[in-house]
Amino acid sequence: MSKIKILSDQLTNKIAAGEVVQRPASVVKELIENSLDAGATEITILIQGGGKTRCQVVDNGEGMGKDDLLLAFERYATSKIATADDLMAIRTLGFRGEALASIAAVAIVNAVSTERGSDIGHELRIEGGNFRYVKPTATQTGTSISIRNLFYNVPARRKFLRSNEVEFRHIVDVLRKFAIIRPEISFTLVHNEHEVLRLKAQDLKERIGELYSGDYCENLIWIERTVPTMKLSGYIGNLNLIRARTGDQYFFVNQRFVTDRLMNHAILSAYADLISRGEYPFYCLDLQLDPEAVDVNVHPSKMEVKFRQQNEVYQFLEAAVKAGLKEVTEVIPDLQRFAPEHYYAPLKLPKSEKSAPDVVTSKTSPESPLDAIQPQPSSIPAGKVPQKQQTNIPLQHPHVPPKELWKQRAQRFVEQGETRREYEFIPDVPIYQLHNKYIVTQIKSGLIIIDQHVAHERILYDNALKAMAEQSWKGQQLLFPQIIDLSVTDFSVLLEILPFLEKVGFSIREFGKHTIAVEAVPAGMAWGNESTIIKEIIDHYQEYGTKDTSIQSKVAAAYCCKAAIKAGDKLSQEEMRNLVDNLFATPDPYFCPHGRPIIVSLTIKELDKRFERA
Ligand SMILES: Nc1ncnc2c1ncn2[C@@H]1O[C@H](COP(=O)(O)OP(=O)(O)OP(=O)(O)O)[C@@H](O)[C@H]1O
Ligand SMILES: [Mg+2]
Repeated sequence: MSKIKILSDQLTNKIAAGEVVQRPASVVKELIENSLDAGATEITILIQGGGKTRCQVVDNGEGMGKDDLLLAFERYATSKIATADDLMAIRTLGFRGEALASIAAVAIVNAVSTERGSDIGHELRIEGGNFRYVKPTATQTGTSISIRNLFYNVPARRKFLRSNEVEFRHIVDVLRKFAIIRPEISFTLVHNEHEVLRLKAQDLKERIGELYSGDYCENLIWIERTVPTMKLSGYIGNLNLIRARTGDQYFFVNQRFVTDRLMNHAILSAYADLISRGEYPFYCLDLQLDPEAVDVNVHPSKMEVKFRQQNEVYQFLEAAVKAGLKEVTEVIPDLQRFAPEHYYAPLKLPKSEKSAPDVVTSKTSPESPLDAIQPQPSSIPAGKVPQKQQTNIPLQHPHVPPKELWKQRAQRFVEQGETRREYEFIPDVPIYQLHNKYIVTQIKSGLIIIDQHVAHERILYDNALKAMAEQSWKGQQLLFPQIIDLSVTDFSVLLEILPFLEKVGFSIREFGKHTIAVEAVPAGMAWGNESTIIKEIIDHYQEYGTKDTSIQSKVAAAYCCKAAIKAGDKLSQEEMRNLVDNLFATPDPYFCPHGRPIIVSLTIKELDKRFERA
C-alpha cells in the first residue's frame, strides 16, 4: 500500500475553492465575469445577508444547454480555451475552468439556464459538490446562478467571514470595478430585497457620476494615448478628487481589473509633485494591449498579470498620465473655487509661496450613492435606529486639501502663536449643534464650524499617543471576557499591535489557536460589541497603515476612529464646550489623524465681503 493517494475530485475542488473563493465577494466576481463572457448586457445581482446567505447573479447572456450546464460545474471545464496556444492569448475574463466547480464544492448551488434560440431551459442543483438533480424548466434566455450558504460545509472558513455589512461592502467594491470598466452594461444590485443600485447603460463619465457623485464628473480628465503596441484610455481625477485613502484607483488591463503595484506606482508617480504622502488620486484607466503581451494566468483569482515588456509599460503609463495632468495645475481645488475671485489671489499649486486664504469654504464631501448604502454599524450609538437621513454619514474621507495647504496654514498659526487668539472664544456664547454632526459657535473673528467626530478623534488620538508613550491608561474590566476567533492574518496583526492596545486600556489574552479573550476595554468607552471593534481596528490598521507611519500612530488612529463620538450623536452644551476646549488644547486642532479637516471658519471680514458691505 503506498502512502500517497490521489485525492478525490470533491476534495481537490474544495482545495481549489480555497484559492478562488475567499468570501462572498469572490463568488460575485466569478459569476459576473461569466455573465460578461457570455455576452450579457443586463446583469442583476441579488444578495442576502451580506452574501453569506445568498449570492445570485442573473444575466441575459447566451445561456447554456443541458449538457453544458452539467459540464460547467466540472473542474477544468471551460468553453473559453481549448489549446495551450489559447492560453497565451486570453481574451475572456475566465479561462481556468475552475470557478464554478470550486464554488459548488463549498456551497449550495441552483443554476438555471436557457440557451439562446432554445425555448426550454434547465435547472441544476448541486450541494457541497454533490450533484442532486437537473430538470427542464421554463425561463428566459440567459443564466441565473444562485449560491447559498457559502462555506456551510467548511465551518473553519465560514467562521472567518466578517459581518454582513463588511461582506456586502466587499461585494459593492467588486461590482464597482465591473460597473466602471463596462458602463455599457446595466447592473442592478439588490441586498435583502432592497434595491441598492440600478445602473442603466451609459457612458463612462455618466457611470462615474452615478457611482460617486455629479461632482466627480466635473473633476475628471480624459486620457487617451496610443503607441504601436498599446493604448491607454480612461479618466484621471484632478486635485479635487484626492483622498486620504486608497480605493478609488482602478487599473484595468484589457478590461480586466488587476492589482499591479508596479503599474499603480507608475500612475501615482505621475502625480508625484501634486500629492503628499498618504494622498491618493482617483483614476480609472484601461490599458489595452495584445493579449499575447501579457500573461493573465499568474494567480487563481486572475487579478494579477505579468507583462512581457514591463519597463516599457511602466514608462508609457507614467508619461501618459503626466501629459494628462498638465492641465491640473490650472485647476483650483474647491477651497478656492468657492471663494470670491476678487478677494483671493488664486493659488498656484503645488508650489505656492502665496498664503492660503483665511476663509475656508468647504463643500460637503461628495457622497456617493454607494457610500450612502454602506452601513456603518458602529457609527450609530446603541438604541438609535439609523434613519434614512443618518445613513449618509460619509464613510469616505472628504477631500484632502492639495499639497499641505491646510497644514501650512495651521502651521503658520501655531508658529505665530496665533491659534488661541484667532479662535478665541467669547465666554458664555451658546454653542449649537447642527444636525447632530457639526458644532457651530461664535469666535472673536467670526464663526467656526467643527466636525464633532473628527474633533473628538483628534483629542483621543493625542491622548492615546501620550498614553502609549508614557504610562498606561486604565482599562475597564469586562464582567464576561469576550472570546474572539481571528483569522491567521488578523491574529498576527493583533500580536503586532497588542502592546499598544494594552497601553490604551485593552487587556487581551491568547485563548487557544488564533482565538483571544478580551478582558478589559479602555475606560469610559460605551462600547457594545468588542469583537467587532477589535476586528475593525485590525482592518483599519491594515488599511491605513503605510510603511512610514509608526505602529503607535496607526493603532492610535484606528482606535480613535472607532472610539470617537460619531456624526449623529447628540451632545449637551457641556459636552460641546469640553470638546471645543480639549480640541484647542491639542497641538494640531485642524486635522484629524487621517488628514481630514476639523474646523471650517468664516470670518466677519469674509461675511462682510459676501454681503457686499466691504
Ligand atoms: N453565466 C453564464 N452564461 C453562459 N455560460 C456560462 C455562464 N457561467 C458559466 N458558463 C460556462 O461554464 C463554463 C465554466 O465556468 P467557470 O467560471 O467555472 O470557468 P471559466 O469561466 O471558463 O474559467 P474561470 O475558472 O477562469 O472562471 C464557462 O467556460 C462557460 O462556458
Ligand atoms: Mg468563469
